[in-house]
Amino acid sequence: MAKNINVHRGENSIESFLNPGKNPNFPLVEIPGNLNPFIHEKIKIFAKLMTFSSLGNVKAVPGFNMIAEKAARGELKGVKNIIENSSGNTVFSIAVAARLFGIQNIQSFVPSEISWHKLLMLLFFGVSPIVNQEPDKPSSTDPASGIYKAKKLGLKEGWLNPGQYDNEDNPKAHQKWTAKQIWEQTEGKITVFCAGLGTTGTIIGNSTYLKSKKESLQVVGVMREAESYVPGVRTEVLLKLIGFDWKKHVDTVQQVLTADAYRKSMELSRQGIVVGPSSGFALGGLLDYLSKRKKDNLLDELRNEDGEIICAFICPDGPVPYLDEYFKYLDDSDFPEIENEQILRNKPEKNS
Ligand SMILES: Cc1ncc(COP(=O)(O)O)c(C=O)c1O
Repeated sequence: MAKNINVHRGENSIESFLNPGKNPNFPLVEIPGNLNPFIHEKIKIFAKLMTFSSLGNVKAVPGFNMIAEKAARGELKGVKNIIENSSGNTVFSIAVAARLFGIQNIQSFVPSEISWHKLLMLLFFGVSPIVNQEPDKPSSTDPASGIYKAKKLGLKEGWLNPGQYDNEDNPKAHQKWTAKQIWEQTEGKITVFCAGLGTTGTIIGNSTYLKSKKESLQVVGVMREAESYVPGVRTEVLLKLIGFDWKKHVDTVQQVLTADAYRKSMELSRQGIVVGPSSGFALGGLLDYLSKRKKDNLLDELRNEDGEIICAFICPDGPVPYLDEYFKYLDDSDFPEIENEQILRNKPEKNS
């Protein structure tokens, strides 16, 4: 096979660059022993770095696939406007892919509690945000919800709503690319897969492919505890808005708290696996799952033919968009001190 020297040139350079099938695998990196409490029990834990996708986050993969598949089916004919319900990574990934097909007007319903930084990101990528007051009781069939409004506007002439919450091309993207890469990279030895639950596209796509290869593979889904914040992933109540039947693809659900997610991602980042809160969240859920199996004397059932347990967890994005939040959710003692802090000229208000 020709060596992929990772160059995309010519008229279709961007299309090729956005297409995961025309790129090297995203790295799969084993976490260092000091972050793996099970290292001496023949348990290896690997981080799948979706940060190495074309747009630096997990959504580059379904964002590209949802648009490319619509184009392949001829469903972009006459489309001049795209509307999605998304406050972050999904809509700017869709925007970049849609521009390949000459679609310039990209709009997004965003909840009124969206962070200022995320709103700036949308503006930076040329996405027009429509701030929406979400109903108190989340429901995708409530006409006041962003999901409902996006669906309705998407039916108008010249408009399209990709609909990440029930569009099969979202999980299929992970089935086609992410999972296939993980299978290859672990040489079929993976025994546990873990990911946070957002739209659930990642977990459904990976579970579908990996279980088709190895029925005994265990899939761990991680959700937020009620009232506990982590960007990109959902609580049990918010998962009710999702159109996919995700539960049938998941063997175990774990819940992880905000500070645990932020701390674990900071620890990974400090050792060279530079990832954001929802990555620490997935690792936290995986470690809790392994601890529980150990307590119940059920670890050995997970071992592969080499007597090892090979785990992979998904790292959706990096820490930079959330940097200020680390200082909100972690303790002062987690960070070094600043010498001569009193003479700093541009210090923002704490937690602003
Ligand atoms: C930062 C981040 N983490 C995790 C996820 C969850 O992935 P999925 O939507 O495929 O469940 C998302 C999705 O929006 C995300 O943006």
